[in-house]
Amino acid sequence: MIVNLSKKILALISLLLVIGFSQTAFSQTINIIPYPNAIKVMPEEFVITRATRIIYNQQDKDLAVAITPLILKLQKAAGIKLKTTNTLRSHDILIRLTDNITQPEGYHLEISPDNIKIEAGTPAGVFYAVQSLLQLLPTEIESPTLAKNLQWKVPAVVIDDAPAFAYRGLMLDVARHFMPYSFLEKMVDLMAMQKMNTLHLHLTDSQGWRFESKKYPKLTTIGAYRKGSAFNTTYDYASRPNDTLYGGFYTQDQLRKLVAYAQSKFITIIPEIEMPAHSEAALAAYPQFACLDSTGKAFPYPSQIQNEFCTKDSTFIFLTDILTEVMDVFPSKYIHIAGDEASKVNWRKCPICLQRMKDEHLNSVDELQSYFIKRIETFVNQKGRRIIGWDEILEGGLAPNATVMSWRGEQGGVDAAKLGHQVIMTPGEYCYFDHYQSLDSSEPPAFEGLTTLATVYGYHPVPDGLTPEQAKLIIGTQGNLWTESVPTPQHAEYMYFPRAIALAEVAWTINKQPYNQFLSRLLSYINRLDYYHVNYSRHMFDIQMTTSVDSVTKLVQARVAGVPNGYYVYYTTDGSHPTVNSLKYTGPIIITKDAEVNAGVIYKGILVDEVNKTFTINKATGRTSTLVTPPSKSYNKGGEHAWNNGILGNDNRFNDGEWLGWSGQDFDGTIDLGTSQYMDTVTTRFFNKPSDWVYMPQWVSISVSDNGTDFKEVARQADLQTNTDGSHNLKIGLGHISARYVRIVAKCDGIIPKGLPGEGNQAWLFVDEVEVE
Ligand code: ACM
Repeated sequence: MIVNLSKKILALISLLLVIGFSQTAFSQTINIIPYPNAIKVMPEEFVITRATRIIYNQQDKDLAVAITPLILKLQKAAGIKLKTTNTLRSHDILIRLTDNITQPEGYHLEISPDNIKIEAGTPAGVFYAVQSLLQLLPTEIESPTLAKNLQWKVPAVVIDDAPAFAYRGLMLDVARHFMPYSFLEKMVDLMAMQKMNTLHLHLTDSQGWRFESKKYPKLTTIGAYRKGSAFNTTYDYASRPNDTLYGGFYTQDQLRKLVAYAQSKFITIIPEIEMPAHSEAALAAYPQFACLDSTGKAFPYPSQIQNEFCTKDSTFIFLTDILTEVMDVFPSKYIHIAGDEASKVNWRKCPICLQRMKDEHLNSVDELQSYFIKRIETFVNQKGRRIIGWDEILEGGLAPNATVMSWRGEQGGVDAAKLGHQVIMTPGEYCYFDHYQSLDSSEPPAFEGLTTLATVYGYHPVPDGLTPEQAKLIIGTQGNLWTESVPTPQHAEYMYFPRAIALAEVAWTINKQPYNQFLSRLLSYINRLDYYHVNYSRHMFDIQMTTSVDSVTKLVQARVAGVPNGYYVYYTTDGSHPTVNSLKYTGPIIITKDAEVNAGVIYKGILVDEVNKTFTINKATGRTSTLVTPPSKSYNKGGEHAWNNGILGNDNRFNDGEWLGWSGQDFDGTIDLGTSQYMDTVTTRFFNKPSDWVYMPQWVSISVSDNGTDFKEVARQADLQTNTDGSHNLKIGLGHISARYVRIVAKCDGIIPKGLPGEGNQAWLFVDEVEVE
């Protein structure tokens, strides 16, 4: 399956020389994603009508499957039932397999005013030609209902195409949050449109076991239902009331159905079963497979997510039993056995693991992990399958036939390729779709990193420094969605799209196009996603809203930046999404009262990019402010006056640039109102997120002064702790008092007490925004 890149590039170059790269010769836009590797566009067109017939070998069932999307979509959206025929006439569609096309997923698509001709070496190639053809049709071809009064025109083209990489994947973590079965089929549909061919399901983790085992039913009766959140999981099965359970699992029948459904779209489902770590759900169900002390009690888990199975023989029987069931359900060549992030802490003290190291002459726990993975690999290979593991499986020695999924950057992949192993590139910087995709304040909570659409599109999966032979071992790339912060399918769609579309092109297109050209195709493509109600993110251009306070008027101004030429921005001030009927942005927006400003680019009626900021305008806004202790360098992006600049930090995340953070230190700030004036309340905002060591202050004190030197405390509040994550407003009444200077001190929680997340470390204190009214 490895694509011979150099041969293919040569073939393409000669093809380009013959036919010319003449897309620009006509005004016609070819909006295919991923972009084909060689395309010639002519001024004519072909129109599919009720008279159009289709010719293909009807005995070939796989071929029939490959053309099904064309048949069904024409029927549904266009009301055209293509008739089959055996003799080619003018105005027919001819589809045939040929030995002349040797790339396993390659195809030739030729459209003239007379005929549409599809040729490929395999049904998969035909399927991809059909996807290209569908994208050449009006976007209404994706409509689930009859689209009236349309001509089903396609431009005359000659396309010769084949993917850069054999493996073009997405990973979905269904362990941290369980996703309904219907969403898995939807993902298959959406991936197929972009010629992706692998859906990797992360089926087990510490936060949930999602694969039905007939032999070990407690894996789902216990391990599929947790108490607590994805960040704070327990399996206290006996004591938990039913209404606190969270979870779910897929039956083997459902997963078989998914495999068959995916096969019909030329997509392979690869299952992942986590070992040796990330196994708390399994160990909650079957604690006998944990490391036990000499009294038979489980060692306390060093970390909730990274505890591992014991290396005792019974564990291997258990895991190979599970893998047998897994391989029975999933026919994929590859079985993912993880291998990531094992703390190995318990292995260092477990008598059985220490004995195992002695018996097997292993010098380190890394070598013990290598022993573990090799033993599993031997079993999987005996069943005729291959293992994939995360790049940690390199540590202590790589299993002989393993494929490495490189996630901690590309180095693991480079090392594996140099050792002659196949590699799938999924480096976090480019391929982790659990990262933020913009810095806009409206982004829902995500992992820390920032992976924009442009970053994904800029990825090159083959790193420099490999020989051509080693480069061939990079079989592809994959976008990973970990779902700790992603509880629903709608949220998952938001994280995947449009980044997955960019990655599909990275994985397919050899001659990558300029980013703006990709964006212009993407803006057309999203019309198709709308028919599937895909909740794609509206950050196509990554526009930004910058703010400043006018030094004289003290008024806050908002500007929109990063908008490409030729696109228009509209905005609202009431928190609603802008439409073309909203105010048109022509220059800085002056904020004179409380407002939630949403500014967005609208393209052909669709909001394709949006930025949001919430403003509060009060006596303190934009006034001179001073801090006794500057915020931490990691959390000072908004500047030292961000706490009274009129812009509210995000309610759900403290890393949006607006919140200021102090580690182990108090907040002590003073605002000069300019003149003595009456005030009734001071509102302060703090962030609470114990899982990230961010805690509410112990107390808050407000003092006032008329000369800036002699302050008098006028209010103090304590007992501020809360169980709810996010921002908390604290409105403190002062009575009706007059002063020029207001000083706010918030006492940091200090060293985190025992039993709380981050115990023994300094607590963080996050502040934004102080309002005086
Ligand atoms: C991983 O992100 N732990 C593979």
